[in-house]
Amino acid sequence: MSKKNMYGLLIIALLAVVIAVAAFQLSSGIPSTPSSLTPHSIVTTFKENPQTSRAFTWQTANPDAATVLQIAPGSGITDFDRDVVLTFEGTTTPIDTGNGTVQGAHKVFATNLTPGTRYTYRVGNGENEGWSQPAEFETEAKHTTAFTFINVTDSQGVTDADFQLWGKTLNQAFATFPDAKFIVHNGDLTEDPEDERSWQSFFSHAQTWLASYPLMPATGNHEEIDGNADRFLAHFNLPENGSDSVKPGTSYSFDYGPAHFVFLNTESKVKKQTEWLRADLAATKQPWIIVAMHHGPYGGNQKESLLDKWVPLFDEFGVDLVLQGHNHEYSRSYPLQNNQIVEDGKGTVYVVTNAAGSKWNKKKADLFYHRVHLQNGKPTFAGIQIAGNTLTYAAFAVDGSPVDTFTINK
Ligand SMILES: [Fe+2]
Repeated sequence: MSKKNMYGLLIIALLAVVIAVAAFQLSSGIPSTPSSLTPHSIVTTFKENPQTSRAFTWQTANPDAATVLQIAPGSGITDFDRDVVLTFEGTTTPIDTGNGTVQGAHKVFATNLTPGTRYTYRVGNGENEGWSQPAEFETEAKHTTAFTFINVTDSQGVTDADFQLWGKTLNQAFATFPDAKFIVHNGDLTEDPEDERSWQSFFSHAQTWLASYPLMPATGNHEEIDGNADRFLAHFNLPENGSDSVKPGTSYSFDYGPAHFVFLNTESKVKKQTEWLRADLAATKQPWIIVAMHHGPYGGNQKESLLDKWVPLFDEFGVDLVLQGHNHEYSRSYPLQNNQIVEDGKGTVYVVTNAAGSKWNKKKADLFYHRVHLQNGKPTFAGIQIAGNTLTYAAFAVDGSPVDTFTINK
């Protein structure tokens, strides 16, 4: 072979490698290394009143980049120089990702918004380059009496393929419940909170939804490890009105429509959160109370330590529904009061909406409180609608097959 031919073959081989790598990144959904300015892992959350404010978090490869949010009322806005624009500046916190790189975690909070209004927004560093694609969100309408939200738990992936399944679960959830206003995630979002690549996959496969619909997470044992929840909290801008005994953002509460939502941290200081829980439940005048926690008292198995701390308060203040995670199987309790089965509408119902990722546990033994208890081995989600005096819960698998449904009437 001539030297000329050899060089030709070498160039063709190199080109083939470059094309193969690019094709792999496209097919696997792994974002190619973003420029240091490009925002990724964008997620919106409630922080204070959902009618008038909205929080945002995103990541960049530049820990020195500024944190700027631009918002314009209306849909489909592309010209942020011309249309009415509100600008909010936030904070940038460096995260040492442990592989020799430091990335920027960007958090910003938009206030004084108008209830029941659709907005278009973009996030970036405030310079011409470095803006995200525009996305849209809606503030809660005043006097909301009926709404739907989505419940998922334990997306808990490692590989990018794991999170493709999580993305498909949310696609099916929003196809089934297109009017859903936000997502409650009961924890174990990723397997290893220190693994930034899995966080990127978690956000990228659900980016369409997470940029527009708040994801409100409970803290799981894969978010808080030995009292450290820093990496989890770096990815979400959460309410900080919770118990002083745990990290801000790992316990909190908010109202939406006629419902009061309470998120508890089952991973530390259970006893110390009780005082805050009592005060929070005593203060609400909302007709519906929903609690979200990771490792619940009545799941596939029992977390005994919560039974004597938090369950009496759920009984006393008439908590309607407790959303749990951790067990990676589906379970629903009878209505319970004082650790006993009571009539429908008189007690608290506890559910575990299986898992939204790719990890399932073998079904555990049935216990006295189980009304429905199964393992379908499929990523599962639920849509929960509150309308007047009725709560309707309906769980489906990612393939659209029904898993369970029930109503609670007040
Ligand atoms: Fe889990």
